[in-house]
Amino acid sequence: MSALQTPLTAALGCRYPIVQTAMGWVADSKLVSATSKAGGFGFLAAAVMSTETLEAEIARVRAASEAPFGVNFHMFQANADAVIDCVIKHRDRVRAVSYGRGPDAKTIARFKDAGILCMPTVGALKHAEKAVQLGADIITVQGAEGGGHTGSVPTTLLLPQVLDAVKVPVVAAGGFHSGRGLAGALAFGAAGIAMGTRFLMTSDSPVPAETLKRYLQVKDPAQIRASTALDGLPQRMIDNPFLLRLENGGLLRRLLVALSSAWAWRQQTGMSVAHMAKTFFSAIGEGDSAIQTMMAANAPVIIQRAMVDGRPDEGVLPSGQVAAVIDALPSVEQLIAGIVAEAEACLAHIAPQNQTTTFAKTA
Ligand SMILES: Cc1cc2nc3c(=O)[nH]c(=O)nc-3n(C[C@H](O)[C@H](O)[C@H](O)COP(=O)(O)O)c2cc1C
Repeated sequence: MSALQTPLTAALGCRYPIVQTAMGWVADSKLVSATSKAGGFGFLAAAVMSTETLEAEIARVRAASEAPFGVNFHMFQANADAVIDCVIKHRDRVRAVSYGRGPDAKTIARFKDAGILCMPTVGALKHAEKAVQLGADIITVQGAEGGGHTGSVPTTLLLPQVLDAVKVPVVAAGGFHSGRGLAGALAFGAAGIAMGTRFLMTSDSPVPAETLKRYLQVKDPAQIRASTALDGLPQRMIDNPFLLRLENGGLLRRLLVALSSAWAWRQQTGMSVAHMAKTFFSAIGEGDSAIQTMMAANAPVIIQRAMVDGRPDEGVLPSGQVAAVIDALPSVEQLIAGIVAEAEACLAHIAPQNQTTTFAKTA
């Protein structure tokens, strides 16, 4: 059996232990379908989708291939209940769900009863232990260098910590982009790798060219740093004028950003004007923490400006530090084939056929 057939490929029903993670506005049906066709396993990013959009995206993935796929969501999104129902309705093809701060044990039991695997992403040992207690089937461990919301422990430290602590298959994330990385993760004892930024930087990604240019331009990992300015939680992003303004701006600027984002998000989610007005007046009364809450609720709009509208300086650019070492936009097919070939070469180099023979002879 090939070293690339692992408990992950068996559980998810894919050819290679390579997961394309969910990325809001980025992991759409095209990216997910390209990933499954190339032998990986892709997650649709439903956390920023209306229920109708999710239905339409699932229909596109279903039509593109026979392969199973995953859906990512957050319990704090307004349509979480409808998303859960929708996922369960498509249980014949949705093989797994991923989430961060996740659903309760009852919701997890609903997925498991439907035969859907629960595969949360965690950034700390205690969160991995808790997730397994709640019923997770597979854990994705994201080290600090990873994109989007992220913890503070690097992948090389967090991965063995979690591998030692849990019995379910563990997938390594945060900083992966190559076959060397996949071989290394397998050598650690992981069941595979999961990548976000590397898939964002492909020709199958829906991100507009103007924005992708920024991802290609950044060459210093230190310029891709974690900041709490967007929603109060550490989120790794590429430095840009908008992020600096957010970090350096006073209360009024932050309130204005929160309000304008809230207005745009309201139009997309159908949030009522009364709800918005209530949030506005409580924000004025309570100051910074309430503004932070508003920013968190409306962060998708700020990300959307860069990732969908192609205005990289007017939104934020969530990214892993790995973007600093990526200088090309291959297709997903080329990417996965390259990673697989390199991983096989690395694994053969570590344990060449003739070495085994030598050991056998001298033993
Ligand atoms: C642009 C972008 C958007 C993201 N959006 C989400 C999301 O909606 N849900 C989620 O669970 N994780 C999200 N993440 C985190 C990724 O799924 C993944 O865990 C992370 O990118 C892995 O690190 P890497 O970028 O070094 O590969 C996002 C990451 C990026 C770069």
